[in-house]
Amino acid sequence: MGIHQEKILILDFGSQYSQLIARRVREAHVYCEIHPHDLSFAAIKQFAASGIILSGGPKSVYEDGAPELDERLLELGIPVLGICYGMQVMARHFGGEVVTAGKREYGHAELELRGERGLLFDGFFVEGKSSVWMSHGDHVSRLPPGFTVTAATANAPVAAIQHHHRRLYGVQFHPEVDHTPRGDILIDTFVRKICGCHGRWTSGRIIENAIAQIKRQVGDDQVILGLSGGVDSSVAAALIHRAIGAQLSCVLVDHGLLREGEGDQAMATFAENMGIKVIRVDAAARLLAALAGIKDPESKRRVIGNLFIKIFEEAAGQIKDARWLAQGTIYSDVIESAGGGTGKAQSIKSHHNVGGLPEQMKLKLLEPLRELFKDEVRALGEELGLPRSMVWRHPFPGPGLGVRILGEIKKEYVDILRQADAIYIEELYRSQWYDKVSQAFTVFLPVKSVGVMGDSRTYEYVVALRAVISKDFMTADWSQLPYELLSKISGRIINEVRGVNRVVYDISSKPPSTIEWE
Ligand code: XMP
Repeated sequence: MGIHQEKILILDFGSQYSQLIARRVREAHVYCEIHPHDLSFAAIKQFAASGIILSGGPKSVYEDGAPELDERLLELGIPVLGICYGMQVMARHFGGEVVTAGKREYGHAELELRGERGLLFDGFFVEGKSSVWMSHGDHVSRLPPGFTVTAATANAPVAAIQHHHRRLYGVQFHPEVDHTPRGDILIDTFVRKICGCHGRWTSGRIIENAIAQIKRQVGDDQVILGLSGGVDSSVAAALIHRAIGAQLSCVLVDHGLLREGEGDQAMATFAENMGIKVIRVDAAARLLAALAGIKDPESKRRVIGNLFIKIFEEAAGQIKDARWLAQGTIYSDVIESAGGGTGKAQSIKSHHNVGGLPEQMKLKLLEPLRELFKDEVRALGEELGLPRSMVWRHPFPGPGLGVRILGEIKKEYVDILRQADAIYIEELYRSQWYDKVSQAFTVFLPVKSVGVMGDSRTYEYVVALRAVISKDFMTADWSQLPYELLSKISGRIINEVRGVNRVVYDISSKPPSTIEWE
C-alpha cells in the first residue's frame, strides 16, 4: 500500500493554525493536505480521505460572508473532526445553534469529561482533566439532534461534542497548538483509531517513494540543482543523488556572503563524501564590485539576487543536456504562495535564490520536497546521512551576510562579521544553546566607538548579537541567553577579532522589530 493511500483532508477556514493541524497529523505518520474550505465537492470525493478535519477560522458562522462548507461532505460517512469554527459549522448544519459568547474566551482552560465517553478522548485526560487552549468568541448554545456533549470547561459548557454513530466530532478548543499539552494525542487518536490509518508516512518510506518518483519523472535526463548551504537544497541534493546518481549536477554559487566555512562544508559533504558533482563558483569579487556604494537594504537584496541568478545561469549553461531544475521547495512554500490555503490558485514560489531561468534553457521543475514540512525534511536529511550541523542549521537569508552589514558592504566588514559570527556560533554550540534558540547571528554596525585596550585608546567597530525564539519566524521573542555566556562571547570577540571593541546584545522582539536588522 502506497504512503499516500491513507490521507487526511484539512479544510482551511482561515485559521492561523491550519499548518499546525497538518503537522500534528504528519507526526502521527499520516499524509495530509490543506485545502481551502471551498474545495469543490467533486474534488473532496476524489481526494478519497480517510478522515476530514475542519479548521478554526476568524469569523462567526452566522456572519454575512462567513466561509461556508459543502455540507454534503458531512454525509459521506467519513469521520470528521471540527475544530472551533469547524465544530460550529458542523453543529449548525445538523440543526444546532451558535451564538456569541458573553465574553471572548482566550487562553488556558481546564477541560473536564462530561456525559458519554468519546473515543476521541482516549488517553487525552489525566484523572478526568486536561489543559486546553481556547480562542473563540462564539459557542454552540443548542446541540444538534443526535449529538452529545463530551467535555466542558468552566466557561464553555459545550466544549466538545460528538455524534458517535456518524463518527462526527467537534472540539471548541485547539488541540493543534503547543498550549494544549496533550493535543497531539487527540489528533493521533482521531487519525489512527477513528479514521483507521496505520501510520505509513515515515522517513524511510518517504525516501523510498521519492526515489521511485524521481526516477520515473527524470528517466535518463540530466538534472541541475542550486546548492545554497541551507537545509532544503541540501536534502533535495542528497535525495536526488540517491535516486539518479551521476545524472545530478549541483552548482554552488559562493557569493562571498556565506558564513564561515559554509562553502567548504558543502563541498566536503557533497563532493568529497557523497561523490556528487558540484561546480563551485567563486563570485565574491564580482559581487563586492557590484555592491560598491549601495546602502539601501532592498537595493542590496536586488543586486545580490540578480547577480546570483546570472552566475547560476552561467554555471548551469555548462551542464550539457540538462532538462530539469531541481529545487528545495517545501510544503510551507507551496501553502504560503497559495495564500495560506485561503482559496487562491496554487502557484509555485520560485526559490528566492534561483529565480527565473532563461527561456531557452526550458528546464522542467523537479521538487521532491514539495509535500514535506521542515521537520520532515530534517528527518529525511538525517536518514540520508547528512551531518547534523547541516540538517539542524538555523535559517539563513538568501542575501546572506549582506543584510547583516548595515548600509554599504565592504570586504573589511564582511571579514570582521564572519569572524565574530563564527565565535558566537561556536560558543552557542559549546554551551548547548544552539539548538535551544531558533536563529542566532551577528550584525555588523558600521559605527565606531571609543574603547581602551592595554594603555591605548581604541576607536573601532561595534557588533550586535541576536538570538531569537520563534516557531514560524512571523513573530519572535529575543532569547534570554545567560549573562555568563554573553560575557564569554563578548570577551572572545573583542580579544580575537581585530577591528571590534564593543559587543551589544539585541533585546528586541518581533514585532515591532524584525529578526534581521535590514
Ligand atoms: P525578518 O527579518 O523579516 O526575518 O523578521 C524573518 C525570517 O526570514 C529570513 N529573511 C530572509 N530570508 N531572504 C531570505 O531568504 C531575505 O531577503 C530574508 N530576509 C529575512 C530571516 O533570516 C528570518 O529567518
